[in-house]
Amino acid sequence: MRRMFCFATFAVAACLIGTVSVAADESRKVNTLVIHADQGKTTIDRNIYGHFAEHLGRCIYEGIWVGQKSPIPNTRGIRNDVVAALRRIKIPVLRWPGGCFADEYHWRDGIGPRGKRPSMVNTHWGGVTENNHFGTHEFLDLCKQLGREPYICGNLGSGTVQEMQQWVEYITLPGVSPMADLRRANGRRQPWKLKYFGVGNENWGCGGNMTAEYYADQYRRFATYVRNFGDNTIFKIACGPYGENYHWTEVLMKQCKDKMSGLALHYYCGTGKRSRSATQFGEIDWFHQLHRALRMDVMLAKHGEIMDKFDPKKKVALIVDEWGAWHDVEPGTNRRFLYQQNSLRDALVAGVTLNIFNRHCPRVRMANIAQTINVLQAMILTDKEKMIVTPTYHVFEMYAVHQDATWLPTELNAADYRFDGNKIPGLDVSASRDKSGKIHVTLCNLDPNRPAELSCQLIGAKADRISGRVLTAAEMTAHNTFRQPENVKPVEFKDYILGDPFIHVTLPAKSVVVLEIE
Ligand code: AHR
Repeated sequence: MRRMFCFATFAVAACLIGTVSVAADESRKVNTLVIHADQGKTTIDRNIYGHFAEHLGRCIYEGIWVGQKSPIPNTRGIRNDVVAALRRIKIPVLRWPGGCFADEYHWRDGIGPRGKRPSMVNTHWGGVTENNHFGTHEFLDLCKQLGREPYICGNLGSGTVQEMQQWVEYITLPGVSPMADLRRANGRRQPWKLKYFGVGNENWGCGGNMTAEYYADQYRRFATYVRNFGDNTIFKIACGPYGENYHWTEVLMKQCKDKMSGLALHYYCGTGKRSRSATQFGEIDWFHQLHRALRMDVMLAKHGEIMDKFDPKKKVALIVDEWGAWHDVEPGTNRRFLYQQNSLRDALVAGVTLNIFNRHCPRVRMANIAQTINVLQAMILTDKEKMIVTPTYHVFEMYAVHQDATWLPTELNAADYRFDGNKIPGLDVSASRDKSGKIHVTLCNLDPNRPAELSCQLIGAKADRISGRVLTAAEMTAHNTFRQPENVKPVEFKDYILGDPFIHVTLPAKSVVVLEIE
């Protein structure tokens, strides 16, 4: 019955596409979406779905590295459950070792027999002693087990040019050299392939408190010695701005554009307005969080405009190598370990942010959510031998279909989600066509109270079949726990009608939906 009703409603809606005027009651407005399947030109770089793992709290130690003698099943010290879970979401690239840690890290402390490695104090993250058991070899082994690309961030803040130069030589030089010989002495005969290398992290802050002008000079100097050895070519990534610091982008583009392949932007969308808790919050916090997440769109547009001025052919990639929500830590945990829970609200943050990245794919070619395990907006939480995946993990799994697909431009005309005199768009979308010709549309309904009816028109393709999955829950604070690990997980989505020429969809309140159209 309901379906029949929807169809009748949509039949009227469909006729109005393009001409509908904003209804007095926004919530009853007909939402329309046009997908230009005839216009796709740009590939959505799979690296937009990248991740970041820092020596911070329980991300590396416990989350990834448990050591070979651990009762937790592992391969050469790396947790098997975590590797399998990350492979399921097709993790494309992993950034390491920081973060702020990167500019205090001296790579030579993390090679050679583990028992002989010197320890250090992780001053930035809780003053804990770091035993350096997880170093270059272990990280590159992890990437091999994941089957994807490493992205190493070098130390410009407290390191030397020589140290950075030698790290790249150690990893990539095939012939005879002091560093290649040292690598061989440590058990690795062949060089590794290393493409992505960051020349410092947040050098406007924890990476040395530099001005843009000073960092630009330092970047030019350090990057000169980040060499290509053999057939290995490094994609050099300069530290970019935080958020709306457009001056930094301007200076870096002006002074370094010919010396870099990527410029790294960081932006965290914070937490709620009244509550900073990851799981105990109200609608004011839901609204505020999503409002801040959507600012990413404006920032990418503005940084992109500046980059276009210096680089109209878009040779330099904009890389958002840290992003995500940042809540208070879970009660009773170390404040500097940044261990937070992850709710349906975080899933919506991930859903809209990944849609935004997809829509900016001509310039944005990598992004790394912070952070993979047990830190900030994590994919995975662990408690000794136990492991659960978060709502954000499920969004990455649902969106993996966009990796390396052709981005399809969309026109969305949607009712606003209004709260307390403010408003944000009620819906968010991105679409792509994969190599086999299937079209995928990822949709977010940001309104926690109202379902949204959407009439979609596909231009340049015919839909014969459709299927979908949805991630939602009864409560906006819903999350997974070690006792209830499947509280929030995607299920089959059936609330659509495949009409001709319109596809009619009813998106539940506070949901993320992926549609597959053949
Ligand atoms: O991801 C946590 C921290 O946030 C990183 O170390 C730093 O780069 C950023 O400020």
